Amino acid sequence: MSSLKDAKYEPFEVEKFTQAQWEEVTRYHNEVQAWLSPELPEKSVEAIKQIYTFKDPRRDVHRVMAWDGSREKMYGAGGLYTSSTKDPKHEENKHIGTIRITIREPYRRQKVATNILRQLARKAKELGITTLQGNAGLESGKAFCRKYGAKVAARAFLSRMKIEDVDFDMVNQWRKEGEKKAEGVVLERYSTIPEEHIDEFISLTTELDELEREIARDSGEEESVEGHFVLDAESYYHHARESAKRGEETVIILSREPDGGYSGMTLVDYNRQTEPGKVRQGLTGVRKAYQGRGIGKWLKAEMLAFLKEHYPGMTEIDTGNATTNAPMLSINRRLGFQTIRDDETFKIGVDELLERLGSA
Ligand SMILES: CC(C)(COP(=O)(O)OP(=O)(O)OC[C@H]1O[C@@H](n2cnc3c(N)ncnc32)[C@H](O)[C@@H]1OP(=O)(O)O)[C@@H](O)C(=O)NCCC(=O)NCCS
Repeated sequence: MSSLKDAKYEPFEVEKFTQAQWEEVTRYHNEVQAWLSPELPEKSVEAIKQIYTFKDPRRDVHRVMAWDGSREKMYGAGGLYTSSTKDPKHEENKHIGTIRITIREPYRRQKVATNILRQLARKAKELGITTLQGNAGLESGKAFCRKYGAKVAARAFLSRMKIEDVDFDMVNQWRKEGEKKAEGVVLERYSTIPEEHIDEFISLTTELDELEREIARDSGEEESVEGHFVLDAESYYHHARESAKRGEETVIILSREPDGGYSGMTLVDYNRQTEPGKVRQGLTGVRKAYQGRGIGKWLKAEMLAFLKEHYPGMTEIDTGNATTNAPMLSINRRLGFQTIRDDETFKIGVDELLERLGSA
């Protein structure tokens, strides 16, 4: 093995990768996946290519990779994600950068992450970014963030539910109760939102995102997470097309009030080929004015019943919730979700970080 002293830190230029480098990136990715989700099967080189060449029009990405001297062995990588000019909230988001760094186990504690972070922080400064944020679920990541002075801005529980533990009698009871209590409300189900409903869907997700932020505001040590990453129709359809290419399936269930508007929603996605059995729970929420009528429970119960019938291979569902989101946590615990990890979002000013890294 080459010494880490000859580590090369380079931009992640996917267009220039050789097949051997793609295979190495695939091994790295599968290693990272094994720490976080050991139950998932390894991904193929093709699936990895799709993931790394996916472009979210709302975000720009600057990646740095650490290779050995001969560029055969990858030590680790990091990314800086910023708001692009296509982001509908660009004015509010342009000062924020999100950082992700992952180093392979044998190469840790040799300052590889520190060197990657320094490059990404310098890039952020050059781009006019003033605040950096990043998530850490593993103890190593939390220790690394603390070491460089970042503060916890939000905490979330990652929870998992095994389908074999679900009490479907209770689920069916929730469906019945929801229908009765929320009189006149009807549920709609889509894999992709039809164009005639897209504007009201965007307005609903925007309001629910804001609600989630409000709920998460007090979950950290002091400051709250910055940034408003809201959907617009163009990026929604772009994302839907790209996910379909990767073999992902999405189910969205919405509640429509007798006055005609949407009051709530729940969304899941899954990929039968690359993540067999696993379902990822996305945004669930009910507009403030319509809460307290059993709609949240009804939506979640309806989704479970639908999945049971249409995805019989499903074995577990993963979800993430702010530690301060009492109503959602209560629904999830009653369904059988159990916390498997604590995710923390860290935050620090770019100048402060550069100063600390200067002496690292
Ligand atoms: C977090 C991670 C990127 C650190 O990579 P690394 O190359 O080992 O980090 P460095 O060698 O640059 O560490 C710098 C300092 O951070 C702190 N640190 C890093 N890992 C630590 C650990 N496991 N426990 C305690 N402190 C740690 C130490 O103070 C270290 O300096 P020291 O070794 O002189 O004591 C790596 O452990 C990893 O990939 N973890 C999983 C992914 C993750 O959680 N990433 C989130 C970060 S955005």
